[in-house]
Amino acid sequence: MSEQLTVLETAAAARIAACAQAADVEQLRIEYLGRKGALTELLKSVSSLPAAQRPAFGAAVNALKGRLTALLDQRRAALSGAESARALEAERLDVSLPGRAPFAGHRHPLSQVFAEITDIFHGLGYTVAGGPDVDDEWHNFDALNTPADHPARNVQDTFYIKDRPGQLLRTHTSTVQIRTMMAQRPPLRIIAPGRCYRRDAIDASHLPVFHQCEGLYVDRGVTLADLKATLTYFAHQLLGPKVRIRFRPHFFPFTEPSVEYDFSCIFCGGAGCRVCKQSGWLEISGAGMVDPNVFRNVGYDPEAYSGFAWGMGVERVAMLKYGINDIRLLYQGDVRFLEQF
Ligand code: PHE
Repeated sequence: MSEQLTVLETAAAARIAACAQAADVEQLRIEYLGRKGALTELLKSVSSLPAAQRPAFGAAVNALKGRLTALLDQRRAALSGAESARALEAERLDVSLPGRAPFAGHRHPLSQVFAEITDIFHGLGYTVAGGPDVDDEWHNFDALNTPADHPARNVQDTFYIKDRPGQLLRTHTSTVQIRTMMAQRPPLRIIAPGRCYRRDAIDASHLPVFHQCEGLYVDRGVTLADLKATLTYFAHQLLGPKVRIRFRPHFFPFTEPSVEYDFSCIFCGGAGCRVCKQSGWLEISGAGMVDPNVFRNVGYDPEAYSGFAWGMGVERVAMLKYGINDIRLLYQGDVRFLEQF
């Protein structure tokens, strides 16, 4: 009888030790100690033994029950420790890893350039002025001393508003020169960033809708040297001290003398490259001393006051600053492009 218990104990101990999971341990507990378990059955069989053997056998079975319970408990505890260690390992989190940056938008490159231009001229005491996109021939041409037969007035170049005679989409921000001078007395210093419209075919450097930033400075004794100094200072602030600026004689009806001005190419330093078409220079826009006729048109005395004005192609400045070779990229809203600025 006791031999039978020893065999059972040895087998049970081996099986308990071999359990790989807490569920297996539970399985064995049921198998040995459950209501229909092996030990329970053994205890039930006590009644079939001779009376003299019953107490000793019962005690032996109960002692075995105690030892198996202890073995099962130990194994369960060992396994649950290992299981939770495994779970902890699987859920391990390295809090020292850099976080994932949330996707955040930012200013469009054109807006960034607008902000920079405005900032630089604020520093020189300029304020920002504005005017309507839909303006009239007087502000866009007549007041700016543009002859009635000037080619820019042509319907091939200018968008006129249907059924509204004399109304047009402004072709340049020079309209704001007129509006500002009509509203204020000198001295004045303004810039006027804004949208302009021309009947241009779309290509890598032209769009029918684009932006300019006008500038106007009127006071007593303003000279062409002030214009040169102002635009040179601007170029250095925007693109760094190495940039050179070049003025070429030109003609605009509203300035006399007139110039076109170029910045030395920031990509090749002026040596000549693909971006500047080997010339070493990048064209920015026009400028000049305000024509006396313009002063007369707004009621300023050209004998008392002088001034200079300039225009600036804002897309052109952005393309130059960021090395963008196609103006259309600025308007396609492609995040892969915009993310780079
Ligand atoms: N309005 C001119 C243009 O659009 C630029 C300019 C502005 C020239 C002011 C002289 C003075 O080309």
